[in-house]
Amino acid sequence: MADSDSNSSSRSSSSSGRFYLTTPIYYVNARPHLGHAYSTIVCDAIARRQRALGVDTWFLTGTDEHGQKIERSARLAGRTPMEFATAIAGEFRGLWDLLGLTYDDFIRTTEERHKRGVQKLFATLRDKGFIYKGSYTGQYCVSDEAWIEGPPGAPCPDCGRITETVSEENYFFKLSAFERKLLEFYEANPGFMGPESTRREVISFVRSGLKDLSVSRTSFSWGIPVPGDEKHVVYVWLDALANYITALGYGSDDVRDQEKFAKFWPADMHLIGKEISRFHCVYWPAFLMAAGIAPPRSVRANGWLLFDQGKMSKSRGNIVRAETVHTVLGSDALRYFLLREIPFGQDGAFSFDALVQRYNSDLANGYGNLVSRVGNMVYKYFGGDVPHFGAPTGAEAALRLSAERTIAAFGAAFDELNFSDALRRLWLLVGETDGYLTANAPWKKPADRPAAAHLHLQARVLATAAEAIRIITALAYPVLPDATAKVWRQLGQGEIGDAARQAFLQNLAWGGLKAGTRFEMPAPLFPRAERDAIQRMQNLEDENNRTVIEAAQGETMAPGPATAAPSVAPSAAAGTDDAHSSDTLTPSTTAPHDPSMPVETAPVHAVPAVQASSRLSSTPIAAPPASGQAQQGSEAPQTALPITIDDFAKIDLRVAQILVAERVPKADKLLRLEIDLGYEKRQILAGIAQQYEPEKLIGRKIVVVANLAPRKMRGLESNGMLLAASLPDGAPVLAGFLEDVPLGARLK
Ligand code: MSP
Repeated sequence: MADSDSNSSSRSSSSSGRFYLTTPIYYVNARPHLGHAYSTIVCDAIARRQRALGVDTWFLTGTDEHGQKIERSARLAGRTPMEFATAIAGEFRGLWDLLGLTYDDFIRTTEERHKRGVQKLFATLRDKGFIYKGSYTGQYCVSDEAWIEGPPGAPCPDCGRITETVSEENYFFKLSAFERKLLEFYEANPGFMGPESTRREVISFVRSGLKDLSVSRTSFSWGIPVPGDEKHVVYVWLDALANYITALGYGSDDVRDQEKFAKFWPADMHLIGKEISRFHCVYWPAFLMAAGIAPPRSVRANGWLLFDQGKMSKSRGNIVRAETVHTVLGSDALRYFLLREIPFGQDGAFSFDALVQRYNSDLANGYGNLVSRVGNMVYKYFGGDVPHFGAPTGAEAALRLSAERTIAAFGAAFDELNFSDALRRLWLLVGETDGYLTANAPWKKPADRPAAAHLHLQARVLATAAEAIRIITALAYPVLPDATAKVWRQLGQGEIGDAARQAFLQNLAWGGLKAGTRFEMPAPLFPRAERDAIQRMQNLEDENNRTVIEAAQGETMAPGPATAAPSVAPSAAAGTDDAHSSDTLTPSTTAPHDPSMPVETAPVHAVPAVQASSRLSSTPIAAPPASGQAQQGSEAPQTALPITIDDFAKIDLRVAQILVAERVPKADKLLRLEIDLGYEKRQILAGIAQQYEPEKLIGRKIVVVANLAPRKMRGLESNGMLLAASLPDGAPVLAGFLEDVPLGARLK
């Protein structure tokens, strides 16, 4: 891997005989997807190997449930934040269980044990003089829950979304006092953070100067109250980071908790996504140093999982769910792909195609095929018992040497988090064992070879290949726990989980498979995936997207617009809508028809947005200009029928803010927006997907025709139209304001 040099200083092996490993805690504003599964699977593989090495391991994961983002998502869903958080936290936990992930604890930041610990941490920081009261006026990115430097309306430098202006009384943490201490700490602990790109980024961030950090909020209440000043809630990142110690019992008076904390803290490794390294490598050690607690031993950042060229994320609408891969190929296939295909620390592309290719070549045709060949021959020629054989020849010695080298090389690479390289080396041994079988061809008796000599060769070759498989299986266990459990039984070794508990990787060495061991009948491990596996996964995703959108329509919509909107829309506007292009709505020819989808009988049109050229108009922005009527952005309108002021007054134009923006599957021009009008929230659909990336729209203020009659498109209801200017080529440019305008303000 590119940054592999940085790994050498932060091995995942522990020198103290115990190992504490954490995932980031996941926001509960959206359901889990493959990106979340990636971080958790990596941790699971590390934890399994540590345990199998005999290290007392504690693997923590959980959910991050407070803050403005969650509060807003819950409101949109018409639920209390707690109901909402409980439902999504349950989905995360359910998915980890479905995938068989072996976390030791799952913390929710809404739990009492966490609240108690956070309040203790806050009080300690204040008592030690590192927290003071002040007021803050500046920009805040709700999506990242991060304070941002920049003028009003500036986009967030990390995610590109428009920031909100916040003006509040806040408590501040004296982060500025830690600039030098942090730099000294990084210097003294070169293995603290990795990969190298993260290390460089963090150091340059700190060197550029640290300002004090606002660590409380007063403009909403979904959080942990500041002890002694309950109109403040603790800033969600201070709250969230503290999970790593509260889950161990920090803040508890119970002596068992205190012992656990003393045993496992400092953490050996916080595994995180690269986008949150500043929080983990700057704020977190500073908070801990200030509180007199040791910082974690290492923070390691994984890259992003990309899908369709972008970071997999809900707002981009390009997510794949781990359940889908689990259903079609099994969770081992997913684990193997993620760890083998993506050099840890780098971004990696996910595609069903690449997944199936990797599955077939390495698992079905590689390891799976090798195991079944050898198992079948041991049954065929020796009735299922590992045969005795005499002295090994040079070929056996060579395979043994390779296996011994692989044990060392695999371990070294894995413990440096170079999973891809570790697996590549292990699969070289798979290939070599296959080659050894083929070269010796125990299934083929040359006419001139005496029967006894052939039987001897068969015994020697099959026993040797089976031993190689045992070594491969033991090493692969942390990555392929399900398949290796089956193979372990087939090899007559019992339960691999028991072997792991007995630290079977600690002394893994050639020669463990004893002659006379009874094999189980081989059963298929990784049936070859046909081309239709890709289509099946795609179909499962399409089906899920439709269900989610239908559910969102039912669940997350604000009270129905017919009652909420002041009046029904002018019929002219609705009529114009019907002239919109329908090209984005062509039903998919690949996905099967889903009977739960409403069938659109009348022609449906995609773009309930309004364009302006030299005037605001209700011409559909996504409609391709009819032939001979090319868009003439700067030309005078041809048929501007005069209206009276009363006519104009019928149109309820309002300022709204975009809270959620996502693509509508199979409609390449259409975005689904959830907007806040100040007096209510709604869903609208807009044909601006080709010009605006959904995630960059969040927080943006727009102008909406609020009293347009609701319309349905692709089963989704649209309750209003946004206004946009239309460029000569028809591209929309959203209308907005330079000054700050309150939500719901009327345009007249
Ligand atoms: N709640 C914070 C973390 C607080 S930790 C004290 C948060 N949550 S998150 O749900 O937005 O993302 C958490 C993690 O999920 C990321 O850091 C990353 O590890 C993982 N991923 C989410 N999407 C991902 C990809 N597309 N690719 C790889 N990892 C991704 O940030």
